[in-house]
Amino acid sequence: MDKLLVEGGRPLEGTVRVSGAKNAALPLLAATLLAPGEHRLANLPALQDVETMLSLLGRLGCPSLVGPTLRIETSRLFFCEAPFDLVRRMRASVLVLGPLLARCGEAHVSLPGGCAIGVRPIDQHLKGLEALGCRFELEGGTVHGRTDRLRGAEIAFDMPTVTGTENVLMAAVLAEGDTIVRNAAMEPEVADLARFLRSLGAVIEGEGTPEIRVRGVPGLAPSVQPYRILPDRIEAGTYLVAGAITGGSVTCTGTRPGDLAALLDVLSRAGCEVHTHGDAVTVARQGPIRPVDVVTAPHPGFPTDMQAQVMALLTLAEGSSHVTETIFENRFMHVAELLRLGASIHVHGNQAIVTGVERLKGAAVVATDLRASAGLVLAALSAEGTSEILHLDHLDRGYEALVPKLQGIGARVFRLDLEDRGIRPPTDVVATA
Ligand code: EPU
Repeated sequence: MDKLLVEGGRPLEGTVRVSGAKNAALPLLAATLLAPGEHRLANLPALQDVETMLSLLGRLGCPSLVGPTLRIETSRLFFCEAPFDLVRRMRASVLVLGPLLARCGEAHVSLPGGCAIGVRPIDQHLKGLEALGCRFELEGGTVHGRTDRLRGAEIAFDMPTVTGTENVLMAAVLAEGDTIVRNAAMEPEVADLARFLRSLGAVIEGEGTPEIRVRGVPGLAPSVQPYRILPDRIEAGTYLVAGAITGGSVTCTGTRPGDLAALLDVLSRAGCEVHTHGDAVTVARQGPIRPVDVVTAPHPGFPTDMQAQVMALLTLAEGSSHVTETIFENRFMHVAELLRLGASIHVHGNQAIVTGVERLKGAAVVATDLRASAGLVLAALSAEGTSEILHLDHLDRGYEALVPKLQGIGARVFRLDLEDRGIRPPTDVVATA
């Protein structure tokens, strides 16, 4: 098990090129199942979750070749099952449910169950797919879905769900007739999936709004041009907060600044200077951090995936901030670890009251989920002394080349490989798959 050593307390300065978005790559990979043939995807991030999705597709019968542009061959499907060992490793495996039902008329997907951030049911996925003509049975912890024919329908989600909207869109594109999805998730990753599906021949409009309309088509085919996955707004946000929390100046390039609007608003209210220029965003801070109240919300609101990182920043504000988590019921696991670094935080239900302290101090902390881990890395970067961050498997799932990217902006961060009992030399060779 590896751990990260962080020597904090130095301002980070420089530029980070943002990778492709994990949460766009995963549904796009699942969507390749809808159009038999060879697909090519550019800007695919080299992440553990992407590898898990490629393993899952490989087990279904779709081999892939990772290179500067990923090639994946989906002409033949031998199985239509997402087994427990893969779903357990990555909840997003559930994204093959819609495509398998549309392509094979059946799908067997192990139920994801709860995880470190909440219960996370998939009832809305099933409700939407049932409206399109699927039947489900739960047996032995696996959802067995079948359909004789998918038919367009009107679907209104009880709450906007990102992967639920994606699953329904992927089934609706091959259904007979029209589908209207109301209360759809408006996240940029959902819109990216809609654009990708259009590149395969699907007829979709309204992505990025709460109402998406789909006209079913009889078949889809891979596009000749490689499809470029959109940049990761959460990765960008994490590095921008690294600039802010250390009192430095970090520029992220290759971003879509509009996707970062809610975060940039919070950072400027917290006393940071924010500049955008084309695909580059710079966040710098010289003065004190001002307290800010933050409420997570579906896009275009403040993203829950940035809550832990911004909470880390607010631990050093001049005053008290309220951080309210409205998306997941258990997404304050980082609080106990931030306290170990010297933060002052009290949690009442879904609200954390963060009272700024003058400085954080290095300590050993345990990462509990992907974004909590990112929050802890940021806190450690600002803390006096050395911190150790354990359980790096979470970070490997979602941050491509984290260590070299941080080292590139002046961070003293090293990965300790406990199995080799030695420190890996800093590496700048990380393939963008
Ligand atoms: N929900 C239900 N029933 C459903 C689906 C969702 O009750 O059938 C609830 C969830 O429990 C949650 C809320 O609806 O309270 C929203 O969940 P959503 O379905 O939108 O989350 P998700 O699709 O499972 C994606 C991202 C998460 C991100 C959330 C919210 C992917 C692969 N995952 O999850 O990303 O936090 O949307 O934006 O796209 C991460 O990258 O670290 C991560 C957790």
